[in-house]
Amino acid sequence: MKEEYKNRIIRFGVSLDSKLLKKFDEYIKNKNYNNRSYAIANLIKKELSKIEPDLNSEITGILAIVYNHHTRELVNKLIELQHHFKGKILSSIHIHLNEQDCLEIIIINGKNIDIKKLNDNIEVLKGIKFFSFQPVCF
Ligand code: NI
Repeated sequence: MKEEYKNRIIRFGVSLDSKLLKKFDEYIKNKNYNNRSYAIANLIKKELSKIEPDLNSEITGILAIVYNHHTRELVNKLIELQHHFKGKILSSIHIHLNEQDCLEIIIINGKNIDIKKLNDNIEVLKGIKFFSFQPVCF
């Protein structure tokens, strides 16, 4: 890593239109931020988390699915896919939402390419009613 980016706080100047700054100050007041720097850092992190991580990089992420467990073979397919996943299933939570629907939160770690493969296989299964994957970026 370049010396400039080693773990320390760096001050830099930002030029903004006064109207945009007024809006930003209102935004940070509503969000209860104490200072602009922390608010800007959080906005930057939020925006950067939308960038797709490199396929070979190792990531941790949160997969959330809702499915109808009555759908034929769905539960078995979900179990099979997780057992054959090349990365690690760190934890999973299963909640029976109602008579037919289950919510599962699965925390996974591994190469982005393997996680994508797992996600792509799960998302298309018949009976999946909700699918969401969020890489953890901080
Ligand atoms: Ni259930």
